[in-house]
Amino acid sequence: MKKRTTNVTGLTRPQSADGVNEEIDSNWRRLIRRRKFLQGIGAAGAALPAAALFGATSTTTTKLHPGDAALLQLALTIELLEADLWQQYNELGGAVDHNDKPNPGNPAYVAALQNLDGDMPQYISDNTDDEISHAAFLTAYLTSKGVTPVNLSQYATLQGSQATGANPTARRLTNLTSLNVDTSWYFRYRSTLNPDLGASFPQLLTINNQPAIPLNDTDTNPNTMVPIPPGKPGPNRMQAIANTAGFHFAYIEQGGSSLYPILCLKATSREVLRILLSIGGVEIDHFSLWHDKGANAVAQPLAGVSDPVTGLTFPDFNNPANQHNSQLSAADQAAGGQMFQTNLILPEPTQFLSASLPPVSIIRPTLDQNGGAMATIQSFIADNLFKGQSDAFLELLFEVAAQADAVQPEERR
Ligand SMILES: [Fe+2]
Ligand SMILES: [Fe+2]
Repeated sequence: MKKRTTNVTGLTRPQSADGVNEEIDSNWRRLIRRRKFLQGIGAAGAALPAAALFGATSTTTTKLHPGDAALLQLALTIELLEADLWQQYNELGGAVDHNDKPNPGNPAYVAALQNLDGDMPQYISDNTDDEISHAAFLTAYLTSKGVTPVNLSQYATLQGSQATGANPTARRLTNLTSLNVDTSWYFRYRSTLNPDLGASFPQLLTINNQPAIPLNDTDTNPNTMVPIPPGKPGPNRMQAIANTAGFHFAYIEQGGSSLYPILCLKATSREVLRILLSIGGVEIDHFSLWHDKGANAVAQPLAGVSDPVTGLTFPDFNNPANQHNSQLSAADQAAGGQMFQTNLILPEPTQFLSASLPPVSIIRPTLDQNGGAMATIQSFIADNLFKGQSDAFLELLFEVAAQADAVQPEERR
C-alpha cells in the first residue's frame, strides 16, 4: 500500500518503497536544478526558442515569441497525452470512433459507464475528438510559425488493454491499468479555502493501483450484464473500473482547467493568448461535465460498489454517516455536508488573492507552483499515468515543462 502525501499544491504524490519513484525523484531534482539555472539567466534567456530545443529544421524566420513557443509546446505535450489516454477510453467505452463510425467497444464496460450516465459513451467520444483536435491544431500552428512541434510518437511503447474493444497491438504513451487517482479536487472545489493561499486537501477516496479500463477478458467478461446494484463479483469489478474512470476523467480535466489560465498569464502575443483561452475554456467544460458524472459513483442508486479484486469501495457521500474526513481542515470540517454533497458540481466561492477579499467562484489553483507545467507533469507521474515509461520520455516532459514554467510575462504585443 502506498502512502500519500499532500503538498501545498493540493496535488498528491504517492510515496513508494520501490525504485521507480526514487528514479523519478532523481530526474526531478536534476530538472529542478536546470530550471533554477534557466530562471537565473533571466526571463528572455530562459525562454529558449523552442526551435533550438526541439531541433527545428525550418529556415523560416519564426514570428513566434520564444516564450510563447515554449507555452504552446507544453500545451501540445499535454494535449498529446490527453489524446492518447482518451483514445484508449474511447476504444473501450466510446459511442463512435474518430471517423464517427459506430464503436461497439467493450459491452460490459459501456454498460457500467452508462450506469453513471446514459450519455457517457457519447461524452467520451466527444472529449476524445476535442483532445485530438487540440493536439492537431497546436501542431499545425507551431509548424506554420516555423517551429518544430513536440512529437511523442516514438515514446508510444506501452501495451494497453487486451480486452474486447481495445486495439490489442496499439502502443500507448499513457498507462490506464494501475492508476492512483487523486480525488482531492473534489474537496478543493467545495472548500472556501484555496491552495494558492496555502490550503491542502485530503483524498475523497483512496484510489490506488486501480484499473480505469478493463484489462483483458479473463479479468472481466465483456458480455456480462452490469445491473444496479451489480450484485455479483464480476459486475462489481467492472463497475468499480468504470467508476474509477469517472473520477479519472474529472482529475485529468481539472488539471487542464488550472493549467491553461496559468499559461495564459505568461503569453506575450494576443493571438497565443487567444489560442490558450479558447482551448482552456473547453478543458473547464470537460471538467464540469466529468465532475457531474463521476460524482454519480458515490450517490444513490449506484453508491456502494466494491471491487472484489482491490477492495476499493465507493460509498454514498450524500449519507451523513459518510460525511466526515478527519484530514480536512477545521474550517472544511465545519462546512459539513457541503464538502461531500455529490450534486455540488459548480465551484463554491473560495478565497482568492487575499483572505480579506470576499470569497469568489473561480478556477483554482492558478499559481505556477500549484498547477503549472511541472506541477501537472508531477501530478501525472503520481497518477501512475506513465507507469512503464522510459527515462527519456520523462526527461522530455520535464524539459518541456521547465521551459514553460520559466517563461516570464512580457508586454503584450
Ligand atoms: Fe485538451
Ligand atoms: Fe482535456
